[in-house]
Amino acid sequence: RTTSSQSGPSMEEASTKRKVTHTLTSGYSDHVRVPNVIVMVGLPARGKTYISKKLCRYLNWAGIKTRVFNVGEYRRKEETACDAIHGANAYFFSADNEEALRVREESARRAMEDLCEYLDTSKGTVAILDATNTTKKRRKMVINFCQEKGFRCFFIESLCDDPNIINANVTDVKVNSPDYKGVMSAEQAKDDFMKRIENYAKQYEPLDMDKECHLSFIKVINAGRSFYVNRVNGHAQSRVIYYLMNIHLLPRVIYFTRHGESGYNRMARMGGDSPLTSDGDAYAEALELFFKEERVQDLRVWCSQKIRAVQTAKGLKGVAAHVEYWKALDELDAGICEGLTYEDIENRYPKQTEDRRRDKYHYRFPAGESYEDVVARLEPVMMELERQVYLSLSLSLHISSNLLQGNVLVVSHQAVLRCILAYFTDRALDELPYIDVPLHTLIKLVPRAYSCHLIFYTYDATRGIWSAREGTLNLCQSPQPSTPTNTP
Ligand code: ADP
Ligand code: F6P
Ligand code: PEP
Repeated sequence: RTTSSQSGPSMEEASTKRKVTHTLTSGYSDHVRVPNVIVMVGLPARGKTYISKKLCRYLNWAGIKTRVFNVGEYRRKEETACDAIHGANAYFFSADNEEALRVREESARRAMEDLCEYLDTSKGTVAILDATNTTKKRRKMVINFCQEKGFRCFFIESLCDDPNIINANVTDVKVNSPDYKGVMSAEQAKDDFMKRIENYAKQYEPLDMDKECHLSFIKVINAGRSFYVNRVNGHAQSRVIYYLMNIHLLPRVIYFTRHGESGYNRMARMGGDSPLTSDGDAYAEALELFFKEERVQDLRVWCSQKIRAVQTAKGLKGVAAHVEYWKALDELDAGICEGLTYEDIENRYPKQTEDRRRDKYHYRFPAGESYEDVVARLEPVMMELERQVYLSLSLSLHISSNLLQGNVLVVSHQAVLRCILAYFTDRALDELPYIDVPLHTLIKLVPRAYSCHLIFYTYDATRGIWSAREGTLNLCQSPQPSTPTNTP
């Protein structure tokens, strides 16, 4: 069929043409699973990098492949080309510094290019653009880029006018930025960074609730005291909002321990529901004493429902505010291999053994679970752990105690603790099933700005003493269950 230029194409043709054009520019038209670009927005020292890194860690743990693209890092590579202007000088970020503006725009463009490649060819699901994106013009550039590729855009704007938070962010984190390393003292750096914030503030256009109301975004106000959410689009965005609404900046400590040694541990049998051995009992008693002496305020014990864990936590009832039993904390279900030794499994199921060796994280025991399954069932536990905070602090800050958790001790099992600890310490999923979580060891975890501090307390039953070491989680070489240091 021909169409005259006067009458224009028929409705059908026009819509086909539109569809084709759209399909050509965006490979994801009509798809439900579309890659998402999360675009950070906000003045410097508003926690954008913190949120980006933490979100990235969470999404990867949850199986959503994510990477952060930090424009500051791209800028530092670019700016070496023009020595006269430098990120360590607040003037670099002034709106009338045209040369620097060009460098910053070029840096953002390069970050976007890499981000596109990541989503297009490396099978990433979410890319986080960590930059200030404080002007509508910059945001338009990002939106156009994403539209052309067919990626979904989601903005996270962090707004904060609490001078205490901003001051702490600059003093604790910003003065250590690579922009200032070896260039000036911490005091000078703080002074310069405050001027940088002022320069950004002059140009800042917060996400406009009217003129930008067609966009998907969340405004995080004063470090999560309140939120404004607009036009949520799809699973990944919902998940991000759910996460952001559960995290907070207040300090907290979380303790983790496996149950004391069980009969099946002694016989090197998988899973089951056997009671503690005498060594296991001794550990349970030592644990009770530890927390009595430690005087942890308002201790809440979260325990699995397996007999060995319940017995380990029994004595803590007199020390803790309460003990709760979570099915979600039960050990990975080894299905047809429950109660068998690794040797039995190898003899009876050589193919299963090989499959598990090849990909331990995804391998699911017949009639049982995989590590990936355990991660999925742990999601509610993780959110509650994120909400947890020193109770005394929540009281002094007038935060209702039923909104936040107190100090928590998790009493669970090897595979489950591997999953939880991998989240906090940002371990890759292929390493997760090999994290060494020994018996008779209490792990104290203190989250820091971009990482976690770990202390391991190992109980020596023969000498009746605890020894402490600070450090990182080790990996075990083979999928053998680890044994307590003092087990014969
Ligand atoms: P930006 O990337 O915005 O320049 P950073 O992420 O480098 O700032 O700042 C790190 C600090 O921000 C951390 O010490 C953290 O405690 C704090 N922080 C995290 N989230 C927020 C938030 N929503 N509002 C304000 N500060 C936050
Ligand atoms: O042996 C202790 C145990 O917790 C078992 O109950 C569980 O099946 C196993 O460890 C998990 O370890 P892996 O995944 O290394 O076999
Ligand atoms: C930066 O250069 O550190 C930065 C965050 O870039 P921009 O403000 O241009 O987004």
